[in-house]
Amino acid sequence: MTLPEKNPSYHYQLNPDLTGIDWQRVLELFKKINWKYRVAQEIEKAFKMSTSTLFIYDGDMIIAFGRIVGDGRYYAMLADVVVDPAYQGKGLGSYLVMALNSELKNYHFVNLSAAPGADGFYKSLGWKKQTTSYIWPQGPKQLRQHCEKE
Ligand SMILES: CC(C)(COP(=O)(O)OP(=O)(O)OC[C@H]1O[C@@H](n2cnc3c(N)ncnc32)[C@H](O)[C@@H]1OP(=O)(O)O)[C@@H](O)C(=O)NCCC(=O)NCCS
Repeated sequence: MTLPEKNPSYHYQLNPDLTGIDWQRVLELFKKINWKYRVAQEIEKAFKMSTSTLFIYDGDMIIAFGRIVGDGRYYAMLADVVVDPAYQGKGLGSYLVMALNSELKNYHFVNLSAAPGADGFYKSLGWKKQTTSYIWPQGPKQLRQHCEKE
């Protein structure tokens, strides 16, 4: 798997020391893309429980991030792939996905739940639609957005 070129205008931090992260800024980015129901302290805790994290900065401002939740060997999931709308369309999302994926060697299952509308993005990066995955919907919105009609 060949990684896309890094954009030299930005700097990239794979698995940084998470004590230095501006979690309010991370929360702000979630809000900007309309993932509203997040709490800064809980985000911090969740990122700290993750297997890998990747942050992209413009100067000292976080402009994109993503993470992997995995067990180190068998199962891993990409999560929270987010690019500030002001910086979308510059290849940062592709870089996040490819770079996180390249961290996952020898896993049995690597998957993700695409946000509604992001199908084309993941397909363009070579991801395949999984025919055998199931979800236990955490409410009517997920039932509507992520489940087959019965
Ligand atoms: C989806 C997201 C991460 C893409 O980030 P990005 O930095 O804009 O992506 P890139 O610039 O690397 O784009 C890569 C390609 O995917 C395409 N693409 C981007 N978003 C897309 C979408 N929602 N649907 C279809 N194609 C998309 C781009 O047009 C581009 O195609 P090209 O290479 O032919 O020009 C970003 O739009 C985002 O943060 N969205 C909100 C959160 C989200 O949906 N996250 C992903 C789901 S978990």
